[in-house]
Amino acid sequence: MKNKKNIGKFNNKITNKSKKLTKAATKKSNKPTKESNKPTKESKGNIKNIKKAKKVKKEIKKPKKDIKNTEKLKKAEKAKLLKQIKEVKEKIREKQLQKKPIKKVKISQDKGKLKPAKPEGKLKPGNLLLSKKELNNKSELGVKKTISREDTPKKESKGKLKPSNLLLSKKESNSKSELGVKETNLREDVSKKPLGVLDLDKGIKQPTKQPTKQKGVLETYEIEVDKAKVKVEIKREASNITYTLHTPEIGIATAFLLEEIRNELVSATTISMKEITDPAAFNTIKQRFMQEASSLIQENLPNINPKIKEFLVGKLMQDMLGLGEIEFLINDLNLEEIVILSSKEFVRVYHEKYGWLPTNLKIAKEDEIINYSNIIARRVGRQITVLTPLLDAHLVTGDRVNAVLYPIATKGNTITIRKFARDPFTIIDLINNKTCSLDIAAMLWLAIEYEMNILISGGTASGKTVLLNCCMPFIPPNHRIISVEDTRELMLPDFLYWTPLVTRTPNPEGKGEVSMLHLLINSLRMRPDRIVLGEMRRKEEAMVLFEAMHTGHSVYATVHADSAAETISRLTNPPIEVPPNLLKAVNLNVVMFRDRKKGIRRILQIAEFEASQDRAEANILYRWIPEQDKIIKHSESSRFFEDISRNTGMPQTELDKNLEEKKKILSWLIKNKIRDLNDFGKVMNFYYTNKELLIKFINKNNVKAVLGR
Ligand SMILES: Nc1ncnc2c1ncn2[C@@H]1O[C@H](COP(=O)(O)OP(=O)(O)OP(=O)(O)O)[C@@H](O)[C@H]1O
Ligand SMILES: [Mg+2]
Repeated sequence: MKNKKNIGKFNNKITNKSKKLTKAATKKSNKPTKESNKPTKESKGNIKNIKKAKKVKKEIKKPKKDIKNTEKLKKAEKAKLLKQIKEVKEKIREKQLQKKPIKKVKISQDKGKLKPAKPEGKLKPGNLLLSKKELNNKSELGVKKTISREDTPKKESKGKLKPSNLLLSKKESNSKSELGVKETNLREDVSKKPLGVLDLDKGIKQPTKQPTKQKGVLETYEIEVDKAKVKVEIKREASNITYTLHTPEIGIATAFLLEEIRNELVSATTISMKEITDPAAFNTIKQRFMQEASSLIQENLPNINPKIKEFLVGKLMQDMLGLGEIEFLINDLNLEEIVILSSKEFVRVYHEKYGWLPTNLKIAKEDEIINYSNIIARRVGRQITVLTPLLDAHLVTGDRVNAVLYPIATKGNTITIRKFARDPFTIIDLINNKTCSLDIAAMLWLAIEYEMNILISGGTASGKTVLLNCCMPFIPPNHRIISVEDTRELMLPDFLYWTPLVTRTPNPEGKGEVSMLHLLINSLRMRPDRIVLGEMRRKEEAMVLFEAMHTGHSVYATVHADSAAETISRLTNPPIEVPPNLLKAVNLNVVMFRDRKKGIRRILQIAEFEASQDRAEANILYRWIPEQDKIIKHSESSRFFEDISRNTGMPQTELDKNLEEKKKILSWLIKNKIRDLNDFGKVMNFYYTNKELLIKFINKNNVKAVLGR
């Protein structure tokens, strides 16, 4: 009890003392004394810290001040820019409030910022790319953790607001949304040297030093996507060659305007699933978006330079409907492959001239890579989730995409894009770049015209699919072609009678799978003349294919094997394991080879299979000699010509004459540089409809008459 009393007294004392102190402090603060003007060391430190914190807070809250502090901007320009931001902000706000139905707009009270309405079950571009489920998956993935680690502002920032650290912390992301700057607009990559700064009324300011004049620059060129143009610079730096994408830096006012337009477009449009998955419908939407975005920009900035407007519209489209800046890489015709390794590493590309190159692009967050994977998956009606972390798909452009999510890809979410040639190779290109010889091209043409079965073997990326595609225009136009692939890679000329089919992986519940076997069996019911299989991997598929060959269909497929002997071994051993005597049905085996060091691809062997009940052997007809870089004749054929003669009734002399005729046509096409897929297709069509007239025109060297233009 005594103790309790004492404690009570003690507490009262403290309370009184603290009251007195507070009184004194209030007096002091009202009438500042000398002492209060001379703070102690401790309070000095505290005041300093408080001031610093206030300064940082102010800078984070009001990034406009950052502009004021920028030494580079002259006073007049600063005032103008601030005025501009204010005007644009007010204008858009006014317009949005007038235009939009209240239902669709949500005004956040703390910031007064317009936000798009909730989707109500329908998909909206841009903001709905991650579903609730996917967001959950993300946290299950541990992605959030990775990002928060990434989110720590960099040391060198010293409290100042820089574009590079604007995207990072939660607090900062609030200030970011006040600013209206989209994350992707401001890349984490500070090493990037922008080509110029894009601002509303000034256009793209060119830096005084042009990148082309710099030392070590091997090549510069321009890429255009949706009318937005950027420059690429390929440079030798020490022992490395680098790929730099120079995109104009987006000014704050511009970024704000873009964000507002983006929000407006998003909230005003709903996109159905069909519109996402159907490439034609998707293109229509894109055109509509581009028009709307263009008129919104024009409305807000009536005096805008048309070139800048085009760039801004393109940028908006890439951010809303595409894969952001990766779209530029996808549209670089010189690139064969694009690899996003994780958010911590620079994107890498495979350049057809320089091989693998690091770029100056980095995806800011792991989240964004997941988001890109989701966009790609949705467009082909597939899913990529924590339970199904692997995705094999294709882009609207036809490029093949593979995505693997973390933690299966242990360094981070990864995407590999194998680019589809915008201007596909034709057999003329393959003869020109020495992949194939004129003799072999004529032989492949003969084989395809007279319905022989062909297997194309080779290692990874050796050019199997490209050769297969190059052989397709040799098919006569009235033959029905059914192709079965995991992802759409084949591209045939317009005149062919072609039905392309692609497989589908099951959904997370294991439903909806359409396998290669299903499609092969189904294709036999579609009355095909020719069956094309992307890649033969399993026994069941191989058995159906050989069955199709035996029932009179002409079959073309690719197999993973480095030589003709290995092809036989792969086909007759597990997992494919077809009985050796079935290999008789294969009339030609073409083996592709890729020399990684020299970066060249060649037809390594052309072989026919001689098969008995229990064994099969390869008879090599042509082979490539690396020392001379030549494809030469190796052995006489024992079966190939015999099989054609038996099928067609043509004697060898006639076959030889036919081959010579084909070589003559191909040589004429090479001489006249007729190599485009559709032009080549036209000539083939002409050959099958009126061979004599074609030869007559060729003899007269009349290109116009052959191409009909
Ligand atoms: N003959 C060629 N000349 C030059 N480049 C080629 C040639 N063939 C293929 N390429 C390039 O190589 C890349 C890979 O080719 P392709 O897809 O045909 O290989 P693949 O053997 O089918 O690979 P995979 O084993 O992955 O199926 C293509 O992007 C193409 O640009
Ligand atoms: Mg392939």
